[in-house]
Formats: sequence, C-alpha cells, structure tokens
Amino acid sequence: MKNISLTFIGGGNMAASLIGGLLAEDLHAGQITVTDPSERTRENIAAHFGVHTAEDNGAAIAEADVVVLAVKPQVLQVVAEALAPAVQQRPVGGQPLVITVAAGIRSKDLNRWLGGETGSPVAIVRAMPNTPALVQTGAIGLYASQQVSDEQRGLAESILRAAGLTLWVEEENQMDAVTALSGSGPAYFFRIMEAMQAAGAELGLPEETARLLTLQTALGAAKMALESSESVTTLRENVTSPGGTTEQGLRVMAENNIDQLMSKVLTAAFDRSRELAADLGGKVHSEGKVKP
Ligand SMILES: NC(=O)c1ccc[n+]([C@@H]2O[C@H](COP(=O)([O-])OP(=O)(O)OC[C@H]3O[C@@H](n4cnc5c(N)ncnc54)[C@H](OP(=O)(O)O)[C@@H]3O)[C@@H](O)[C@H]2O)c1
Repeated sequence: MKNISLTFIGGGNMAASLIGGLLAEDLHAGQITVTDPSERTRENIAAHFGVHTAEDNGAAIAEADVVVLAVKPQVLQVVAEALAPAVQQRPVGGQPLVITVAAGIRSKDLNRWLGGETGSPVAIVRAMPNTPALVQTGAIGLYASQQVSDEQRGLAESILRAAGLTLWVEEENQMDAVTALSGSGPAYFFRIMEAMQAAGAELGLPEETARLLTLQTALGAAKMALESSESVTTLRENVTSPGGTTEQGLRVMAENNIDQLMSKVLTAAFDRSRELAADLGGKVHSEGKVKP
C-alpha cells in the first residue's frame, strides 16, 4: 500500500479504528485524508493520528485511490450523491475504489447515488465490520461489486484487515447473513455473558468475580477454538466427562433447544437486515433527500 492515497469520508469511531490499525501497519499518516463536518473532530483526528483533514468531501477525493465511506447509513445517500460529480469526472479507468462500511446499504444503490447508472459504474466494496473492530478484533464480511479488480480486492482486504479478520462472500445477499451472524453477534455474546454473570452471582460468587470469570472464559473458549484444528463440537465433547458437571449443564441447554433458539435469533436479525436495506436504498424524497 506504499503509494496509495486514502480518503475517509466521516471521521468517527469506525474511521478512527481503521486508521489506528493502518498506521500500526505499513501506511503512513501522509497517505490519509479524513473529512468531517465538525471542526473539532477534524482537529482531534489530525492531532491524534497526524493525518490530513478537510471539510470539502468532493475536493478530498479528487486524487484518492481509495475512498472509505464511514458515515452513518442514514446520511450515506446524501453524502454519496454529493460525491458523484467528483467520482464521475475522473478519467475512465482512473476512478477510485469506494469502500463502504455502512450497514445495510446495497452496492447497486450506492452505485446509483455515485452516478454509476448514468455514468461509469463504480468499483464498490461493501464491508460489514462489527464493534470489536474498534479494538482491532473485528470479524469483517466483504463483498466486491463486478467492477472491482483483483488488485482493488487485495487493497480493500489490506485496509479492512487493520480492524480484524476479513472474509469474502461471493453473493451480495449473503451480507444479510453476515450482518445477522457477526454484525449483531457481539451483542448476543454480551447477552449470554450477562446471563452467565448473573447466574454465577446467584450461586454465591461476588459480582466482580462472576464478571471476570465469565469474560475470561469467553475469551479463553474463543482463543482455544481459533487456535485449535479441532471443530467446536470436538472441543465441547473433549471437556464433557461422562457423569460430570459440564454434562449436566449441557443437558439443560439441549432440553431448552439452544440450536433452535440461535436459529430464531439469527433469522430475526437476517430478516431485519433485509428490511433495512430495502428501506435505506429506496427511501427517497422527490428532491432526493433521505426521509427523517
Ligand atoms: N461503530 C461500529 O462498531 C460499526 C460497526 C459496523 C459498521 N459500522 C458502520 O460504520 C459507519 C460509521 O459508524 P461510526 O460508528 O464510525 O459512526 P460515527 O462515529 O457517528 O462517525 C460518522 C462520522 O461521519 C461524520 N459525518 C456526517 N456527515 C458527514 C458528511 N457529510 N461528510 C463527512 N462526514 C460526515 C459524522 O459527523 P457528525 O457526528 O458531526 O454528524 C461522524 O463524525 C456506519 O455506517 C456504521 O453502520 C460501524
């Protein structure tokens, strides 16, 4: 990524997390420009990372090889439509790769907003990070539109890897499953940890002890599963001694149909992801504004 110039539109949490990860790797601050409407945000981000900052989105992407759209999904249409002239006036073959981290925005909608239906189709990578990306331990689903070259795929992967593990999906509609599994997944684990913590305290442990035992157990189980060549099923079986305590706990999980519960949890999130995508992609006033 030595000669690449990168512009972030939006200097919030996700941008800061990616920039932090990128600077810890092989990018230097001079290659990065960040735009944000807030002067305070621009000052903070410049002071913290030493990157260039700008207020004018169009001017900031004029020379960029990669544009990362890191604004909230609700404002993406307005932001992208305003960027369209700057994207479309670049020479054919010289357009930037556009990466969006906005949850639920489909590449065809973003391409339309960026002028790709009437002008040149835009190379778009959709990334679905989750909140642990903020501590560089995210799980990030990636999808590339047809216009994305192999080189640009590699570039997108290198950029998002700064925030965690990256995995490509080949069909865009699989991004709804990514959203349901890893996008919303941290909250499911937080909820399970909440319940385990409370149950441990009910059994007589001090609250702080129950909290730390829960968190370290979650971390340890995930680390062990990631580092092991065994499946999680084998790992579970290996720690389940016949007649032991784990067997009794797992029996209750099975009796309460944990598989069916998780299937319902993910399906509900999946359905909502599809609804939101349809809603955000189609929500247009006659004057082109996003409805409140
Ligand atoms: N945070 C996560 O864990 C997470 C996980 C998955 C996906 N994402 C996605 O990442 C994106 C950014 O999320 P975030 O948490 O980083 O949000 P955020 O902290 O609110 O950052 C968005 C930034 O964009 C700025 N902005 C608004 N309008 C702009 C414009 N016209 N031009 C340039 N910048 C503009 C905002 O400024 P103001 O505050 O002044 O409006 C804000 O500083 C979202 O689309 C979200 O879906 C985030």
